[in-house]
Amino acid sequence: MCGIVGYIGGGGAKHIIIDGLKRLEYRGYDSAGIALAADGRLAVEKAVGRIANLEARLAEVSAEDSHAGIGHTRWATHGAPSRANAHPHTNADGTIAIVHNGIIENYAELKERLTAEHGVRFRSETDSEAVAHLIGLFYEGDLLAAVNRAARELRGTYSVCAMAAAEPDKIVAVRKDAPLIAGLGENCNFLASDIPALLKYARMIYLIENNETVLVTRNEISIFNEKMEKVKRDVFHVTWDADAAEKGGYDHFMRKEIFEQPAGVAETLNRGSDENGAIKLDGISLTKRDLEHIERVYIVACGTASHAGLVGKFAIERFARIPTEVDIASEFRYREPYINAKTLFICISQSGETLDTLAALREAKSRGARVLSVVNVVGSSVARESDDVFYTRAGPEIAVASTKAFTTQLVCMYLIALYMGRTLGTLPDAEYERVLLELGQLPDKLTLLLEDEPKIRDIAKRIYKNERIFFIGRGNDVSVALEGSLKLKEISYIHSFAIAAGELKHGTIALIEQGSLVIALASQDRLFEKMLSNIEEVKARGARVIGLAKAGNREIEKLADEVIYIPVCADEVTPIPAVVPLQLLAYHVAKLRGCDIDKPKNLAKAVTVE
Ligand code: F6R
Repeated sequence: MCGIVGYIGGGGAKHIIIDGLKRLEYRGYDSAGIALAADGRLAVEKAVGRIANLEARLAEVSAEDSHAGIGHTRWATHGAPSRANAHPHTNADGTIAIVHNGIIENYAELKERLTAEHGVRFRSETDSEAVAHLIGLFYEGDLLAAVNRAARELRGTYSVCAMAAAEPDKIVAVRKDAPLIAGLGENCNFLASDIPALLKYARMIYLIENNETVLVTRNEISIFNEKMEKVKRDVFHVTWDADAAEKGGYDHFMRKEIFEQPAGVAETLNRGSDENGAIKLDGISLTKRDLEHIERVYIVACGTASHAGLVGKFAIERFARIPTEVDIASEFRYREPYINAKTLFICISQSGETLDTLAALREAKSRGARVLSVVNVVGSSVARESDDVFYTRAGPEIAVASTKAFTTQLVCMYLIALYMGRTLGTLPDAEYERVLLELGQLPDKLTLLLEDEPKIRDIAKRIYKNERIFFIGRGNDVSVALEGSLKLKEISYIHSFAIAAGELKHGTIALIEQGSLVIALASQDRLFEKMLSNIEEVKARGARVIGLAKAGNREIEKLADEVIYIPVCADEVTPIPAVVPLQLLAYHVAKLRGCDIDKPKNLAKAVTVE
């Protein structure tokens, strides 16, 4: 989720690049850097934290009138946020500088080769540095040729911008599965990962396609295909305002993030498995011996993350057969939990800065528990204080209501549970393979599911005036009901309430009356009939029911007033697809009610107070 800006023109490169980077702020970042062509060399400066920190450092760099440069904001994936890990990265003698957005999957292999065969010494923990050395290795006075040659060695996702000290009038960029655009200015040209970076300077844009290389000079933008043949591209005239551009054409960050879920889930799955598809938990060192030692697991988190924890409990107990408890962080620390060195403490947090979660983690650590965290923000406090960290690969989440962080947290919890089960021998190989395969199919299924948005929008139109909505479900659908209900209440301010369907009859059913709206989740085959009985119970008291079931389970149509279908998948993994229509429903209901969707009242993205 990094941001890239490149500029080449008539002076002022430093200010234009910094301005462009600031306009990419919504992508999220933890460090920034810039390389400027200056006096026959490349002047590189970097800083951790705000772009203002970089600006302050740049005040001392004597490249005020530089006419070309590249800049980068980094959202850490390999290695913590630090100056060494910030981009641009350079080759050994600093004559090549690159910025990179994406992940180089074969970087370890490249690093080993560059080190063993060419004596290269790496100065950062990033995957990106390998690209700078590789281009340096192939450079013989022609940057375009060197970048093209290096790109052939790269596996993974990338947009890379490169400069060479010996050719200060060129920037070369290459793209595969990471955004890249080129902008036409007057007597100057640009590169960037997103349109907002350039809106102030250029509205004539070339959208760069996968596997294309771009040569940008002050007067020319040339695009080449994989065979290095020149490609003709129509100019895209941007008419959006800056706000619309930041959201990539979506009305709100929340909707954008809902639609980013297939990619987030795929990326998190990719990072959690090796090339043969077996689970490889990056950053987790739990051995068979460690796991055999564990008598109990505590999963502790807040809000949405705690709902991911509930699914995690199901998965760990089912696959690894270890008793697991889920606790809300604000409660956990004050109730003298039973914890010792045989406890595995898992905390889940998108921001990694939630104070209650952090305090619970410290409490668990002080009592001798081993701490594993599932976190989205690299280098955050929770990540730093944990023994093991498994990162969700959701990318920055801007909307206050968590969506893609939740589904990627679920992926992490499944992978952790499968890993534990397999390592301990409590999960038969065939079961392990089956669930892993099911998880692998989810990104495509989510893409398919998102195509149903118009149907969900229609349902939203019929229900948005309700002031009270119930969510019911059984098994894993209880967690999904809790999450669907939270999403709805936090952005639409409708009073919503979630409960295990079997628990209704113990009190809450007294609230069901003629016209009550009930969203009944029946996503699991093994609990489907039981859920039909629960739907019958509320129907008998006059409720209007919106059902959710797997495609093919059409029996539900006889009872529910309308049904949302999710693609067929194994019962174990239904929470991931089942939550998506509920996120969309909350979004459209809130939109119809005219709410401030991305910034709901009384809420903050990271809750750093108790
Ligand atoms: C709801 C939501 C919150 C967070 C909770 C924990 O949409 O986002 O409930 O899940 O505040 O935050 P993190 O995951 O950052 O610890």
